[in-house]
Amino acid sequence: MATNQAPPGAEKWVPSHPADLGELKQAAAQCEGCQLHVDATQTVFGRGAPDARVVFVGEQPGDVEDQQGLPFVGPAGRVLRDAVEEAGIEVPWVYITNAVKHFRFEMRGKRRIHQTPGPAHITACRPWLVAEFALLKPEIVVVLGATAAKALLGPSFRVTRSRGQLMPWPASAHHPEDFPVDDAQAVATIHPSAVLRADDRDAAYRGLVDDLKVARAALKG
Ligand code: URA
Ligand code: SF4
Repeated sequence: MATNQAPPGAEKWVPSHPADLGELKQAAAQCEGCQLHVDATQTVFGRGAPDARVVFVGEQPGDVEDQQGLPFVGPAGRVLRDAVEEAGIEVPWVYITNAVKHFRFEMRGKRRIHQTPGPAHITACRPWLVAEFALLKPEIVVVLGATAAKALLGPSFRVTRSRGQLMPWPASAHHPEDFPVDDAQAVATIHPSAVLRADDRDAAYRGLVDDLKVARAALKG
């Protein structure tokens, strides 16, 4: 597969003045900004409250999400939902999306095996994320794992080193001028699928909940 050539990027498909997130989602369904649309079933756009106080950004849809067309509805989504609830973050406050909006996978026999999106996919898809943020006005941005961190916080950010720490948003963003939100904060944590892969799932889950509690405590009221 030709992964070294830079894809054209999503820019051409992003409406310049979308009325709302629904219009963005419709436009994203047509996106051919990188090669991932070829093999994936459909674009999986963000979902949740348009006036969300907390915006979660994950990596890319998984196998189940690819089939259902909604983010975080598979096994990682269950972990995330439990952790969000345990941290005291309420569903009506939440919008959830991914850094890359098509499922990247490799066939092994009849199974589709997740492949981490590369820098070219992250860059190609970033205009959708930027467009979502232009309509959202979160108090807190929760960055889930290394791919979202690359898209939002830049290539040198290390989740393991800086997780669970509040950072000013968008001042701490990679290209803060892309995110015209005043006076918000961001916090990075592990990806919920890392809980499923961990030797000690319980400890990994507790760590995720602790980081989400940092986000919860930063909400006003
Ligand atoms: N993992 C993600 O990062 N996003 C999803 O939507 C599902 C699994
Ligand atoms: Fe477009 Fe992103 Fe899908 Fe690539 S992954 S085709 S940039 S929506």
